Amino acid sequence: MTDITSKAEAALAAIGAATSLDALEAERLETLGKKGWVSLALKTLGGMSPEERTAAAPAIQSARAAIAEALDAKKAALEAAALEEQLARETVDLTLPALAAPKGSVHPVSQVMDELAEIFADLGFAVATGPEIEDDWHNFTALNMDETHPARAMHDTFYFPDRTPEGREILLRTHTSPVQVRTMLAAAQTSPGGAPVRIIAPGRVYRSDSDATHTPMFHQIEGLVIDRDIHLGHLKWTLETFLKAFFERDDIVLRLRPSYFPFTEPSVEVDVGYASENGRRVVGGSGDAPGHAWMELLGSGMVNARVLQMGGFDPGQWQGFAFGVGVDRLAMLKYGMNDLRAFFDGDGRWLTHYGFSPFDQPTLSAGVGARA
Ligand code: PHE
Repeated sequence: MTDITSKAEAALAAIGAATSLDALEAERLETLGKKGWVSLALKTLGGMSPEERTAAAPAIQSARAAIAEALDAKKAALEAAALEEQLARETVDLTLPALAAPKGSVHPVSQVMDELAEIFADLGFAVATGPEIEDDWHNFTALNMDETHPARAMHDTFYFPDRTPEGREILLRTHTSPVQVRTMLAAAQTSPGGAPVRIIAPGRVYRSDSDATHTPMFHQIEGLVIDRDIHLGHLKWTLETFLKAFFERDDIVLRLRPSYFPFTEPSVEVDVGYASENGRRVVGGSGDAPGHAWMELLGSGMVNARVLQMGGFDPGQWQGFAFGVGVDRLAMLKYGMNDLRAFFDGDGRWLTHYGFSPFDQPTLSAGVGARA
C-alpha cells in the first residue's frame, strides 16, 4: 500500500514537473496507459480475495483519480502556455492596411432591369417570364407572322436542327414578344374570353448580328396591357411616365411615328429627343430644339386583333397596347457606355467601372408617383 502511495506521489511530482506535452504523454503511458502500473495494479484486484481487495482497492483507485486529474490539469496548462507563446511570437500589426478582397458588383443590365421592374410595379405591372428556347409558333405565328410572312426574315433567327413533337421549329427567341402570347393564353385559360393583363417581360433575346451596337444576345423588356377601352393615349402616357422616371428628368419629349409590326395595328415607332454633350447622348428636350435631335428608342402599338384572338381574347371586347425596348440601349443612354460588346466581355475592369454596389443602390430619387 505504501508502495502504491509513494509511486503515486512520484508520478504526481513528475507530472507537475513536465515541461512539454510529449513528456506529459510519456508520464500518462507509464501510469494510466494500458501497460501503466496503475492499470496493471487495478487488474490485480480481480484475483484477490474480498478481504484483500477491500484493503488494497482504495489506495489504487485514489491514485488513479489523482493522477488522471493531475494529467488533465497539466495538459490544459501546457496547451494554454503553448498558445500564449504562439500569440506572443506571431504578433499582428494592426496598422498595416487591409488586403483588398475582390468585390462583386451588379451588372448595369441587372441594375436597369431592377429599375424598370420598380418603375412598372408602381404603375401596377407584374413581371412575366418565358423560355429563351422558343418554338416558331409562339415567336412568330401567334404574333401574326405565319410561315410565309416576310417579316420573319427581318429577324436573323438562330434555329435548332430539331423540331417539337408538334412539328414546330425550335429557335432562340428573337424578341420578348412571345411572352405576350404565353401571358394571354394563360389569362384566357383561367378566364375564357379574356381578362385584364398588365405585365412587363424582361429577358434575353437572340439575333445573328454583331457590331458596336449589336450583339448576338441582348436584352429587351416587353410591355403588354390588355383591358377594355384601351387606346393609344394610354400607351403614350405609360411610355412618357416610365421614361421620365427612368431617366429621372421631367423634360422627356417623345415623337410617335407611324410604323409597322405584324403584331400591332396601328404600330408606332417612338423617338426621344436628346442633345449631344461631350460626345455623349443626353436624353431630354424636344428633338426639334436647337442642338437637339431625335433618336429611335422603341417599337410599340395597339395589339393586333388577330394576336388577341390567337391569344384567346375576344377582340370585340378587349383592346391593348404593347411595346418592346432594348434594355442594354437604355443602360447605355442612362449610364454613358458607348460599346455594347463590352457589356458581355466579362472584363472585371469594365464591371468595376460601370457596375453597381449591391449595398449602396442609387435608388430612383423620385418614384413614378412623384412625377405622374
Ligand atoms: N418585338 C418588337 C421587336 O423586337 C418590338 C415590339 C414589341 C414592337 C411590342 C411592338 C410591340 O422589334
